[in-house]
Amino acid sequence: MTCDPSLGPGPLGVIEHASLVCDDGRVVYAGPEVSAPSGAEEGADAEGRCVLPGFVDSHTHLIFAGDRAAEFAARMGGAGYHPGGILDTVAATRAASPDELERSARRLLGLAASSGTTTVEIKTGYGLDAVHEASHLAVARRLTEEATLLGAHLIPAEFAANRAGYIQLVCDTMIPAASGTARWCDVFCERGAFDVDESRAVLDAARSHGLGLRVHANQLGPGGGVELACEAGAASADHCTHLTPADIDSLASSGTVATLLPISDFCTRQPYPDGRALLDAGAVVALASNCNPGSSYSISMPLALALAVRCCGLTVDEAILAATVGGAAALQRTDVGTLRPGAQADAVLIDAPHPDHLVYRLGTPLVAGVLRRGAWEIRPGPGLR
Ligand code: NIG
Repeated sequence: MTCDPSLGPGPLGVIEHASLVCDDGRVVYAGPEVSAPSGAEEGADAEGRCVLPGFVDSHTHLIFAGDRAAEFAARMGGAGYHPGGILDTVAATRAASPDELERSARRLLGLAASSGTTTVEIKTGYGLDAVHEASHLAVARRLTEEATLLGAHLIPAEFAANRAGYIQLVCDTMIPAASGTARWCDVFCERGAFDVDESRAVLDAARSHGLGLRVHANQLGPGGGVELACEAGAASADHCTHLTPADIDSLASSGTVATLLPISDFCTRQPYPDGRALLDAGAVVALASNCNPGSSYSISMPLALALAVRCCGLTVDEAILAATVGGAAALQRTDVGTLRPGAQADAVLIDAPHPDHLVYRLGTPLVAGVLRRGAWEIRPGPGLR
């Protein structure tokens, strides 16, 4: 599966009996084996198993310490999800050293790779002061080129009586310090976090410092986040759980990708976003894990796929596209998410003849091999299961 319909039949651009040839970390050929360029060094034989582009996880919060298992258990017992839990993670994360945070994030990245993810966006957001946000951003940048400043995740306790002062700190200190390290700036636009005007101020400051824009929007209730993201030209509006018809129209008629994070809806007992309505309206949809210790402590894109299909109305093909090409669009990347010639040679070998099995056999670890930039990150063993 190339995820490029110009390379083969169907939306996934399927090539049967295919050969994938890479050079210098890039795809140089993805097509029928019989027409593959001669002279390529023999690599691995997929033995009938399917290969698809690595997943592009465009929304994670991996720079954190501690966990919130007790909060999760209470929620499963009937308690609601409140953004305020973020502050528990802020305390634990401020107390951790950059080395500890990096080790922990690297462990999660290892799990991401073993479930087929080859590109990961990483946000800060558990520092919430200038020193910690800068330090956490530097850790994120060591791990990915898709590093995001989320200084506007929540108002920290020490600014509870001075919201305007905190927003000024984000706009005048954190954002200028992040330019050059972060590619993106995000804001949590939600009741209980930042309102539309506060969020707009953060996005304006980020734009003026050359950062790309992302917005946490309409997660816990309806609101102006999606509209703001579209109006501001954000690359992505993330969550999109509570959408009005006007929000769907805005997403469909703007360049802003609707990124669905159904693992967090599952773990917070929210309704699920109407992915079907978004696709039918013509919006570009991405799927991401939202791995974080509060609302979604999982970095499994196959789990996100299964929930998107079962609960958000996507077909399996649409979910796979949302997790590959869609994630790439949410990061404004054209070099990942497909296996077209010229793309980064990031591919996943599934221990099954078709990627439908990723959803059909949910909960089964089917990723047998992962190629990143043309080199095996996880080397496949032989044989069909
Ligand atoms: O995307 N919504 C805001 N941020 C995270 C949750 C973070 C947390 O609960 O620690 C999210 O779901």
